[in-house]
Amino acid sequence: MFGKRGSFGQSDGASKPVKAGAMAPPPPAVAPAAAPPPRQDARTPVHVPPGQGAATPMPGERRKSDGYYDVKSSIFSALIETIDLSQLAKLDSETAREEIRDIVGDIIQLKAVVMSISEQEELLDDICNDVLGYGPLEPLLARDDIADIMVNGANTTYIEVAGKVHKTGIRFRDNAQLMNICQRIVSQVGRRVDEASPICDARLPDGSRVNVIAPPLAIDGPTLTIRKFKKDKLTLGQLVKFGSISPEGATILEIVGKSRCNVIVSGGTGSGKTTLLNCLTAFIESDERIITCEDAAELQLQQPHVVRLETRPPNLEGEGQVTMRDLVKNCLRMRPERIIVGEVRGPEAFDLLQAMNTGHDGSMGTLHANSPREALSRVESMITMGGYTLPSRTIREMICASVDVVVQAARLRDGSRRITHITEVVGMEGDVIVTQDLFLYEILGEDEHGKLIGRHRSTGIGRPRFWDRARYYGEDKRLAAALDAAEANEIKTFT
Ligand SMILES: Nc1ncnc2c1ncn2[C@@H]1O[C@H](COP(=O)(O)OP(=O)(O)OP(=O)(O)O)[C@@H](O)[C@H]1O
Ligand SMILES: [Mg+2]
Repeated sequence: MFGKRGSFGQSDGASKPVKAGAMAPPPPAVAPAAAPPPRQDARTPVHVPPGQGAATPMPGERRKSDGYYDVKSSIFSALIETIDLSQLAKLDSETAREEIRDIVGDIIQLKAVVMSISEQEELLDDICNDVLGYGPLEPLLARDDIADIMVNGANTTYIEVAGKVHKTGIRFRDNAQLMNICQRIVSQVGRRVDEASPICDARLPDGSRVNVIAPPLAIDGPTLTIRKFKKDKLTLGQLVKFGSISPEGATILEIVGKSRCNVIVSGGTGSGKTTLLNCLTAFIESDERIITCEDAAELQLQQPHVVRLETRPPNLEGEGQVTMRDLVKNCLRMRPERIIVGEVRGPEAFDLLQAMNTGHDGSMGTLHANSPREALSRVESMITMGGYTLPSRTIREMICASVDVVVQAARLRDGSRRITHITEVVGMEGDVIVTQDLFLYEILGEDEHGKLIGRHRSTGIGRPRFWDRARYYGEDKRLAAALDAAEANEIKTFT
């Protein structure tokens, strides 16, 4: 379930057996026969303030009142006093959930909490999620339309849906509960997060990428960021449907992938770089040996002959780190035909260029930059900062000889994601790298709903530099047709 990390020791509940295949963290335990002790104060009727029992339109979106949290917190405390956590750990998650539901039902009766059936159901789910799962995060994790979940302390959670960031009504009991959930998440991949090591990357069992930064570094409470894993990755066809790229642009990208161009996918945070890289890899032949290097495995290659590598952060003693550079260097000894680097952000840029330059045509990587030109200068600065004392002209020549195409992704201000440039590296003029745009996205205006109106257009280049390469792979006719069609479209929009 956790890939290579599955066998790491569990730091938190190490002594508790973890059920194979259980997605949720190891269940704590319940004393089987325990009924809640009838305490004096437990009999005081508790009224849930009105306005929180209506049906939830979107899970996780409804704001709950303070009263709800007070009731939940009192029931939760009674539950924790009643159940035996070590016994609950022995149950599978379904039985444990049933067990908790029974006891919470009893507590609600004993406390004479006034609640409708649907409110009770909601409270039961919430409490089960708190004890067994990821608490208030569960309804958000269950939704497939969310791209990112951003928790900024116990009281503030944002989500990104359809490119737009919204605040949700999700609240944690307090920062301690949030920290507990963060700890639960990271302990599943054998890591810890606490004051001593307050920064941690991890992965959820479903592959979602997680970052936690805890106090004292995060001033307003534990901060958790989750990039939700999409089981069905977007395809180039879908990107065309969303208008992220035109059909002709998509054909050009397909030819770039098929004719083994070395590609850098550039873009800002969350602009769709990894998605685009994944789309490009779809055109790799199934008989090629591909090696992927990532910080957290996100790519989903469809080919049969793939070796997936993942970096490793240092352990608590600061040892055992395996960097992206180590992986890329090692790749070269693994007889790769293509090397795919999830994100280039350091000296591994040098090794990737070397790979691109030495017979591993069709290698690809992503990096953070706002334009193709900036992407190339980022590569240069990454190499310089990596401690190589090469003259900058030599580095530029190396970039020129290695990178064929830069594809730029962007998230625009209306939340839409577009491929804004397909740019070729043409050569050197003096000390300067010369590039030419083949395909651009142009913003023309904005409609009444604030949606940007734009179009993809060809720049009129009839013969890209990778023409010969495309011809070698039998793709020249399609390339010419796509470039012609893009130009014809452009003329149409002008008339
Ligand atoms: N063209 C697109 N249209 C709609 N949604 C998209 C598009 N491209 C990517 N997405 C969605 O946007 C989210 C972010 O995409 P992705 O992980 O590819 O971005 P990224 O640039 O690699 O982010 P990061 O910088 O964090 O690595 C994902 O949920 C993905 O499904
Ligand atoms: Mg990415």
